[in-house]
Amino acid sequence: MKSMKLLLTLLFSAMFLAACNTKEDAAAPEKEPTATEEPEVDAELEAAKAKFEPLGVVAVPADNELTDEKVDLGQMLYFDERLSGNNKLSCASCHAPAAGYADGLQKFIGFEGFNGPRNSPSIINSAYYKENFWDGRAGSLEEQAVGPIQAEGEMNQNLGDLVTELSAIPGYVEEFNKVFNDKVTADNIAKAIASFERTIVVTDTAFDKYLAGDENAISADAKEGMKLFVGKASCISCHAGPLLSDHNYHNLGMDGDDGRFAVTNNENDKGKFRTPGLRGVAHTGPYMHDGSLATLEDVVNYYNVGGGVHPNKSELLQPLSLTDEEVKHLVAFLESLGGEVPEVEEPELPL
Ligand code: HEC
Ligand code: HEC
Repeated sequence: MKSMKLLLTLLFSAMFLAACNTKEDAAAPEKEPTATEEPEVDAELEAAKAKFEPLGVVAVPADNELTDEKVDLGQMLYFDERLSGNNKLSCASCHAPAAGYADGLQKFIGFEGFNGPRNSPSIINSAYYKENFWDGRAGSLEEQAVGPIQAEGEMNQNLGDLVTELSAIPGYVEEFNKVFNDKVTADNIAKAIASFERTIVVTDTAFDKYLAGDENAISADAKEGMKLFVGKASCISCHAGPLLSDHNYHNLGMDGDDGRFAVTNNENDKGKFRTPGLRGVAHTGPYMHDGSLATLEDVVNYYNVGGGVHPNKSELLQPLSLTDEEVKHLVAFLESLGGEVPEVEEPELPL
């Protein structure tokens, strides 16, 4: 019986090998027939994946400890329209939770209908940047927070007046005392708002689950997109590191705004903007400092033709010759960087 079985096995193997040989490579007849059936390790995919890392926890400055009470106070201030000159605009007017902490508009509409020159960016993960704003003119969230309050086109509120106004609201006096053991000051307002913003993070995206080992967390299309991101499309030359931003400034060929130049006065910086991080990007269109690209597909198509025209355009931008299929894959990858956007309710405001 035993020898019969062996004979049959040999016979089958011989037939199998013969079939293989007639089909294709006669050069590898010694190959085990079962080898072709095993799932192959996609070396390109693994190499691409190794270029990414999780975002990690947000850094907190030594002089502004993050406490629950401070975050709660920051959340009240964030939603409070009394922070603006006409008591009609709050931070949430332009950075609304329901619109991915942005406003969904191409460019912002500010004080008394002022037509803003730039797109309201999302505040999701804004705590991870070394410098804030499209042109990086603020060195921290604390420094950033008092910007829009005073900007004529945004909330148009004198800081001194605001401190007086909030100091006349007993509920706020009590809150500031509880959190800071101090009065209402501009500094404390900024610290509380910045603390709230440090809790608006998107770190656990489908892509992060994939990085952590869940092979099925993202689609096959997104995996192809990840390969393109580090390879043919070389997005990673700027969107690199844990935040998928190099914290640097580049010109993508968009005209009409001097960008970083306003901060440095250096001709080479004309039209340069900070590389945005990409986690949560699926939730925050329209895109770019001028909101000129409505969808992620528009963004990828813009890169595919090598960007726009500007004397300072980065040499890193070249036509990519991506096929329609590849554009689709890159978009799927960007979408896999979406995640649960923190939900916060409009709090009850102090009286
Ligand atoms: C009228 C609309 C408007 C209001 C109100 C507003 N912002 Fe903004 N915000 C913007 C725009 C537009 C930008 C980008 C401006 C730029 O880069 O030049 C911005 C940028 C930011 C950034 C920088 C994000 C980054 O990627 O670096 C943060 C953080 C921010 N705002 C928080 C706030 C806070 C906090 C308040 C309330 C105190 C506030 N904003 C009020 C429109 C607004
Ligand atoms: C030369 C550096 C560079 C390269 C290469 C690059 N980007 Fe960007 N990216 C930027 C900068 C800078 C901005 C912001 C530009 C602006 O607002 O004018 C940006 C903006 C974006 C945005 C919009 C984000 C937002 O919040 O509005 C997306 C999405 C994006 N890039 C994806 C990609 C993809 C996908 C690739 C590869 C095909 C890529 N980038 C290649 C530097 C780069």
